[in-house]
Amino acid sequence: MNIQSLISEFHSRYGAGDELTQVFFAPGRVNLIGEHTDYNGGKVFPMAIDAGTYLVIRKNSNQKINFASENFSFKAELDLANIDKLDDGVWVNYPLGILNEFKLRRKSFSGFDALYSGNIPAAAGLSSSASIEMVTAFALNQVFKADFDTMNLVQLCKKSENDFIGVNCGIMDMFAVGFGKANNAIALNCENLNFDYAPLEMNHLKFVVSNSNKKRGLADSKYNERVSECEEAVKVIGKVRKINNLSELSLKDFREVEHLFSDPVIKKRAYHVVSENYRVDESLKALKENNLVLFGKLMNASHISLRDHYEVTGMELDALVDAANRCEGVVGSRMTGAGFGGCTISLVETDKLDNFYESVTSEYHKKTGLNPVFYVFKASNGVREIEIA
Ligand code: GLA
Repeated sequence: MNIQSLISEFHSRYGAGDELTQVFFAPGRVNLIGEHTDYNGGKVFPMAIDAGTYLVIRKNSNQKINFASENFSFKAELDLANIDKLDDGVWVNYPLGILNEFKLRRKSFSGFDALYSGNIPAAAGLSSSASIEMVTAFALNQVFKADFDTMNLVQLCKKSENDFIGVNCGIMDMFAVGFGKANNAIALNCENLNFDYAPLEMNHLKFVVSNSNKKRGLADSKYNERVSECEEAVKVIGKVRKINNLSELSLKDFREVEHLFSDPVIKKRAYHVVSENYRVDESLKALKENNLVLFGKLMNASHISLRDHYEVTGMELDALVDAANRCEGVVGSRMTGAGFGGCTISLVETDKLDNFYESVTSEYHKKTGLNPVFYVFKASNGVREIEIA
């Protein structure tokens, strides 16, 4: 990203001003393993990526809030006194949700001008929305001296996504965007928010993200449906054992209560969550012992569970994972993020990458008529201010 030209664009849109112009950046994220566990108090293992959202921001003196983006033609000029939600699907709702959270916490702000520019592929499940939310929250915190720490900002962004946007997501995305660290993934327990950084020493392997280019239609409502199904499973188990969330169960505990489920769908959902937490634990051990072959096997098992028990993959993601697994040099492959479209992540031998790109593209295209796009991201630092020279 050329920061100077982004700042020039800001000035040509909003003119010169007396107040300080500042630039902030928040990355996106990709999850290595631990899917649909975060809102169940479970374990996840994401990393922040070297693609994200830039925000140029400056206070103004006219009591207006201006939002514009280089990525979307829609822009908004709002009165300070009226920051209600706009129509569903409009990107400005993400920063508006954050302003709303600041207001609910009695943090004051004046008018400001904001220009966003992002390079995360949209609707690919790489957390472009959490990136917009976190960059906004972090910037407002600095510009208006709101005195939140990173954990507060992460929690505030999750609240906004749940209450303002209406997606009942867990905390993984904002957390990875907030706490990312170069060359490391984050082993996070979503129940108590304890976390550890895990260095990614990959030797001769690379994590390759493949975008299915399948649009994630209806994803939000399907996502919320899964959240409710897990709540239902907690209630079923509650007949014999009080638990707050499914992640309190080990695989052995699950075997002891599985007879309680009369609905096979709810039982499958619960089994996915319990077994996925187990896979995260095993993956972390495998990584510590530098056993990447085992890590790859656990990725494969995660995908199968997301396909058969959680039912969030769909034809395109399955085709992409199958195509990857047929390539020489692939150690493991799975869907990543919410599913219903978006991306897969594969662990691939570096010297087999060209062959991987070629054969996955051709097989996937044959099956779906779509062309995948590939990215090799670097594990990166979290949200931050960018010094302007
Ligand atoms: C989306 C949500 C996350 C998480 C994943 C699935 O990315 O925003 O909170 O639930 O799906 O693991």
